[in-house]
Amino acid sequence: MNLVIDDVGFTYPGGAEALRGVSLRIQGGESIAFIGENGAGKTTLMKHLNGLLKPSRGRVTVDDWDTREHTVAKLAARVGFVFQNPDDQIVERTVIDEVAFGPRRLGQSETDALANSVAALEIVGLSDESRTHPYDLSASQRKLMTLASVLAMRTPVVIFDEPTMGQDARGLKLIGDIVEELKREKRIVLIITHDIDFCSAHFERVVAMADGRVLIDGPTAEVMARADLLATTNVEPPQLVRLAQALGLPVAPLTIDGLIAALPR
Ligand SMILES: Nc1ncnc2c1ncn2[C@@H]1O[C@H](COP(=O)(O)OP(=O)(O)OP(=O)(O)O)[C@@H](O)[C@H]1O
Ligand SMILES: [Mg+2]
Repeated sequence: MNLVIDDVGFTYPGGAEALRGVSLRIQGGESIAFIGENGAGKTTLMKHLNGLLKPSRGRVTVDDWDTREHTVAKLAARVGFVFQNPDDQIVERTVIDEVAFGPRRLGQSETDALANSVAALEIVGLSDESRTHPYDLSASQRKLMTLASVLAMRTPVVIFDEPTMGQDARGLKLIGDIVEELKREKRIVLIITHDIDFCSAHFERVVAMADGRVLIDGPTAEVMARADLLATTNVEPPQLVRLAQALGLPVAPLTIDGLIAALPR
């Protein structure tokens, strides 16, 4: 499975030019964090990958499928998408049915749909809430439920739009564990986040966007070291990188061990 975004431009019907020539190649097994200030075009770009939006110019392909030639329903078998606002995707009356909705729609057998949903609820720590009405969950639990619904679909590509927002330390750890599990399964994991420490802890590649374009794209450590460019996107480097800079060290460490190794003896 690979994703190709080829010189994509997109203008909303209202007139906002949200993407101005974005090109990216994403290989099977890659995990990428998308960062950048509000309105940079991150969500618009991700919506092109599941066909929710079609490019005004350029081309998006998901393996051998041009997204223009396939419906959102069909693309959903390859690309799972967790929206920024969980309430945008709630359709059922119980948590278990909500999580099983996607797998059933994809044509999984009832047994598989339920088994995958039960397993996904366990991963996100919501097993005890399977009979609860989705709107009786807290906002952060609802977010975890929508994560579970995408996990249960078992798609080769998984996209999370700001999953860390509003999560406490426990929620953050859980989402980090989910990302690591998806990486082990060699699925493509794409995340939009403003949490730069989360991004440097779990992602090998970072794409920084600004004003509808890709500003920097590269290995996480290299991108985090570009404080000058990051500053233009209003993204602060991770705490460890800022600490190293404040200490005058010529490194951009992503781990505590990396920082310690760079300290003069
Ligand atoms: N439904 C829409 N209709 C018209 N314009 C839109 C729509 N959604 C987004 N835009 C505009 O497109 C541009 C890119 O928005 P987008 O939501 O993709 O940015 P983003 O990087 O995801 O920002 P954020 O961090 O705030 O979520 C912005 O100028 C925004 O105002
Ligand atoms: Mg967004």
